[in-house]
Amino acid sequence: MTARIIDGRALATRRRAELADEVARLGAEHGVQPGLATVLVGDDPASRTYVGMKHRASEAAGMRSFQHLLPATTTQPELLDLVDRLNADEAVDGILVQLPLPDHLDAREVQRRVDPAKDVDALNPVTAGMLANGEPTFLACTPAGVVALLDEADVALPGSEVVIVGRSTLVGRPLSIMLTLPGRDATVTVAHSRTRDLAAVCRRADVLVVAAGREGLVTADMVRPGAVVIDVGTNRTADGRLVGDVAYDEVAEVAGAITPVPGGVGPMTVTMLLANTLHAARLRRGLS
Ligand code: GUN
Repeated sequence: MTARIIDGRALATRRRAELADEVARLGAEHGVQPGLATVLVGDDPASRTYVGMKHRASEAAGMRSFQHLLPATTTQPELLDLVDRLNADEAVDGILVQLPLPDHLDAREVQRRVDPAKDVDALNPVTAGMLANGEPTFLACTPAGVVALLDEADVALPGSEVVIVGRSTLVGRPLSIMLTLPGRDATVTVAHSRTRDLAAVCRRADVLVVAAGREGLVTADMVRPGAVVIDVGTNRTADGRLVGDVAYDEVAEVAGAITPVPGGVGPMTVTMLLANTLHAARLRRGLS
């Protein structure tokens, strides 16, 4: 069997065109232009690339983009002060502080400081708690992108066995909650570095989502024939290629459907950030 490819780039292009239409309508009907503020501390090249993509995508969708590039020597009080100013800025609907932050900064404290009404990255504990409570406000962008890809691929989630490899706050944990919400109704297992017999756990999956950050972690013998495989990993090889956590070529021979890297989950992450920013712009003005 050769897997059907779930094309994140194509879905992202379509969704972004729809979002641009909605942004234009919001401007025409209410004179509102959503604004996204991104904050990058230091000069990590990968983070710089990601923030640049978010900036260009928000402008392409007709939003305002406010980029804050701070030196690696920025102190915690200086960063918190910037977040306070963005919280108070009427032109800013969404705030994203790019991770990872340099080691001397406390990311959790920064995330707690972001106004939940502007928390388009969904990392404030209020936002995470609302999701855990079954009353989501903003959905974390990467897991929301995974759900959108599963919907696009017509994956029947109710009653299905989903295995998520990786328990991060950014992906695995929020995704496990999203997929068990009423309407999604999946049976979810979250595997991690201490899981006994990872291969056997993975083979149970109708849907296998891999977000562990380890190149080549999932091999063909770990995948049930016909399963849907979503690869969230983004790893750089020694020769500079971008690869996922799944050994793509061999797994594509076994899986029923699979996301490529690049061109799978990545483009959807940025798309969901734009969707959250539009949502924030409406909510803050009582327009939803
Ligand atoms: N770094 C990698 N992914 C993300 C993300 O979704 N949000 C933020 N803030 N930083 C990231």
